[in-house]
Amino acid sequence: MPLKFPEEFLFGTATAAHQIEGDNKWNDWWYYEQIGKLPYKSGKACNHWEFYKEDIQLMASLGYNAYRFSIEWSRLFPEENKFNEEAFNRYQEIIDLLLANNITPLVTLHHFTSPLWFMKKGGFLREENLKFWEKYVEKVAELLEKVKLIATFNEPMVYVMMGYLTAYWPPFIKSPFKAFKVASNLLKAHALAYEILHGKFQVGIVKNVPIMLPATDKERDKKAAERADNLFNWYFLDAIWSGVYRGAFKAYRVPQSDADFIGINYYTASEVRHSWNPLKFFFDAKLADVSERKTQMGWSVYPRGIYIALKKASKYGKPLYITENGIATLDDEWRIEFIIQHLQYVHKAIEDGLDVRGYFYWSFMDNYEWREGFEPRFGLVEVDYETFERRPRKSAYIYGGIAKSKEIKD
Ligand code: NOJ
Repeated sequence: MPLKFPEEFLFGTATAAHQIEGDNKWNDWWYYEQIGKLPYKSGKACNHWEFYKEDIQLMASLGYNAYRFSIEWSRLFPEENKFNEEAFNRYQEIIDLLLANNITPLVTLHHFTSPLWFMKKGGFLREENLKFWEKYVEKVAELLEKVKLIATFNEPMVYVMMGYLTAYWPPFIKSPFKAFKVASNLLKAHALAYEILHGKFQVGIVKNVPIMLPATDKERDKKAAERADNLFNWYFLDAIWSGVYRGAFKAYRVPQSDADFIGINYYTASEVRHSWNPLKFFFDAKLADVSERKTQMGWSVYPRGIYIALKKASKYGKPLYITENGIATLDDEWRIEFIIQHLQYVHKAIEDGLDVRGYFYWSFMDNYEWREGFEPRFGLVEVDYETFERRPRKSAYIYGGIAKSKEIKD
């Protein structure tokens, strides 16, 4: 039996500004790339800032009806008091082009990068800096007039963990205390944005949800997995509605707010065991080893996890989107299998009665995978980084077929 998806279901792809645009010279990543604190430079990336027309054309011709991308805050405000009109117009043009091609945009306001000037003031570590965020969001409300779906933050807990806990990403801070402080300020920033945008837009947030599997059957490992799941997956979202954010060491008061939808980014599973180290929150988590083959990222493939994540996220009673799901591989047949297996589980969730409204494959095209540079190939479309030529892979067409027919054939 073919699996049929609802008529209004969105079959899209996802990208982020810094990973595709190129020459994002005013943000924190760019700065650290130049001074050699990051192993790879984003440079021209996919040069999407020049090729946006061709890219949208290609998307439309492949049959995708939605596209998630992000606005680069530092392009609009390269300096604290300098507004870039040209960038504003370009983003507007991108939105107009998408709409003209019947592609529904879902726009992320913050996807890991921030203006360097903002970070120099302490970024989201300092609550008083939220006034700058507010100003950006107000401008964005003008810019996104014709857009319906806005996500405030992309993967807030990844941003926090990478930037403030493991110090693997800018701003390279290693402090569990600061990390949870930043998380609590991101919740405040979400609430501020929700207040400004709600009514005109459907305002959601995008959360990564790795599945936390206990390393053994031991009770304490099971408990550790549950703790990891709550601390990194759900406490952040819980706080939006409860107004209490449970960090590892203390609870933070945050404004009671709302979200009109929840975006789930799902890739893989983690394996969790108990630890006695309080600074590790009493657990050790590493990449799970639950599939024979590993992707270029070293990740296992665990399709059932997408279903588990959706089920758990349904407790908020909000519409759900898979805002990212994808695989880094040179084996495109594997990518096709990956997409179908995950979509089968998304379909199962819908059959169970969950309100899942869309699926966005990460990524439309190969791009700058942060610290991992250009080697991981997540794209449906291959990018030649010398010529910037785009070459749709077979998976791009197969996914397009699914998007157009809204069904997975047997
Ligand atoms: C999630 C992030 O949002 C995105 O920026 C990244 O490229 C993908 N995962 C793949 O790692």
